[in-house]
Amino acid sequence: MDFTRYSLRHAGPIFSLNFAGQPVLVVGNASMAADLMERRSAIYSDRPRFIMATEILTGGMNLAFARWGDRWKRMRKAANIGLSNAASQEYTPMQEKEAIHLLHGLMDGKSTVDAQIRRTSASTVLSAVYAYPLLESTSDPCVVQVESYVDRMLKAALPGNYFVDIFPWMMHIPQWIPGARWKREGFEWFKKDTDMFQQLVEDTHMEQASKPHFRGKLLENAAEHDLDPVETAWLAGTMFGAGTEALAATLSFFILAMVLYPSIQHKLRDEIDAVVGAPSGEFDNTKANFPTFQDTKNMPYLHAVIKEVMRWRPMGPMGVPHRSVQDDVYDGHFISAGTLIISNVWAMHQDSSVYQNPEQFIPERFLAEDNITAVQFPDTKGLGHHGSIYRMCIGYHVANNSLAINAANIIWAFQICKAKDPLGNEITPDPDALLDEGLAVRPMPFNCTMTPRSPSVAEMISVAARRVF
Ligand code: HEM
Repeated sequence: MDFTRYSLRHAGPIFSLNFAGQPVLVVGNASMAADLMERRSAIYSDRPRFIMATEILTGGMNLAFARWGDRWKRMRKAANIGLSNAASQEYTPMQEKEAIHLLHGLMDGKSTVDAQIRRTSASTVLSAVYAYPLLESTSDPCVVQVESYVDRMLKAALPGNYFVDIFPWMMHIPQWIPGARWKREGFEWFKKDTDMFQQLVEDTHMEQASKPHFRGKLLENAAEHDLDPVETAWLAGTMFGAGTEALAATLSFFILAMVLYPSIQHKLRDEIDAVVGAPSGEFDNTKANFPTFQDTKNMPYLHAVIKEVMRWRPMGPMGVPHRSVQDDVYDGHFISAGTLIISNVWAMHQDSSVYQNPEQFIPERFLAEDNITAVQFPDTKGLGHHGSIYRMCIGYHVANNSLAINAANIIWAFQICKAKDPLGNEITPDPDALLDEGLAVRPMPFNCTMTPRSPSVAEMISVAARRVF
C-alpha cells in the first residue's frame, strides 16, 4: 500500500528503487505492465530469488514462487491439465453444492460471515484438488496445517521480510550456530510441509470415486507429466495455498461492497430474479430452484459486479513479484537483468485516467452500452489482476466460477444490510480497513446482517442442505 501512495502522489506510473543493492521497478500503470509482462513476457516471467520462500520453505517446488525453468514448466503444464477451462467445468457440480452449504452456514449464524467464507473457500479448493469431503469448519486439522503454511509463505514472499533475502551470503551460515534459528526452522517446516502434502496425495480414503479432482488428474497422467512424487505432492499442495486465501479475500470484498452499496445489491438481485425467478412466499419443494451455472451464464451484471470487486479491492495489491532475466530498456528506464518487478495493481485499478471515480464501486464500467456485452480490463487480455501471460493465475477458471455461483446464491437468498449498534444506529464498515497478510489483503472483519428473503427461502436452504450432505 505504501508503493501505491508513493506512486500516486510522487513517482508516477513507473519508478525504480534500490533495495540494499537489489534493483526494483514498480509499475503502476496497466498498459505499461502489459508492455513488460505480456508483450515482453519472455524477459519478465521469472520470479525473484526469495531464498526463504522459494528455496528454504518450499525447496523450489511451490509453483507460484518457482523460478522460471524446467521444473516450473513441467509443473505448470501438468497443472494446466487439471485446471483448464474444460477441466474446471467438472468441478462445477461440487461448487453448486458448496454454494448451498455456504447459504446454510450463513443462515444458521453459528459462526461469523468471515469464518463461513474462509470455510467455504478452503472446502472448495480442497475438494477440487483432493476430492476432500465438504468441510464443516475451518478447525479441520488439515485446514489448520495448510493455513499455517500459507501464512508463512505470504510473509516470506514479501520483499525484505527476511535478512537472508537482502544478504544472500547468510544462506551459507551453518544451521547450528545461535542466530540461525530462521534457517533451522525454515528447513524443519519444509520437511513437515512435504510430509503433509505427500500424506494428502496418498490419502485414498477421502477419494470419492465419482468426484473429479486435480490430484487424480496428476496421478492418472504421471508418466506424461514427468513429475516425481514429491513434486506432485507440492504441486497439489500449492493449489490449496494459492487458491484459498485469494478466493476468501475476494468473496469478503464482495460482501463488503454489497453492504456499502445497497442499490447495486438490489440491481443485482433484480437480474438474478429475472433469470431464476424470485423466491415464492410459500415453500414448494418441487419448485425449489437455487441459481445454477446454467443461470449465471445469463447474468451479465453479476459478472460485471465480480470484475468490479476485483478492481475496487484487489486481494493482491502488489501482484506476485516478477524478475527480469536480461537487460532491457523501457520508457527511458534501463532495466538490468535481475530486476525485481512489482505490479502495483492497486494503483493501476485506482488510475482515474482509466476508471472514472475509481474509489466508487461502479460495476456498470464493465458493461457496454447495451448492458449485456462485457467490457474487459483494459490492456490485460481481460484478465485484470489475475496476472500476465506465462505466470497468470492458473486457478482463474475455478476462482471465477466459485465467485459467480456464491455471489448469485447469496444475493438471491438473502437481504444483506448494515449491522446495528445497541442503540439501533447502523454501523458502516470502513472500506479502507484492511488486514495486511503480506502479499495478500482482505477486509478487516466487519458485521452485517444476512436475512433470508422469505420464510420459504429459509426452508428451502434447510431442505437443500440436508439433501446435499
Ligand atoms: C479470486 C481468486 C484468485 C485471485 C484474485 C488470484 C490471483 C492471482 C495472481 C494475481 C497471481 C499472480 C500472477 C502473476 O504473477 O502474474 C496468481 C497466481 C497463481 N494462482 Fe491465483 N488467484 C485466485 C485464485 C486461485 C485459485 C482458486 C488457485 C488454485 C486452484 C490459484 C492458483 C494460482 C497459482 C498456482 C499461481 C501461480 C502461477 C505461476 O506462477 O505460474 N489461484 N493468482
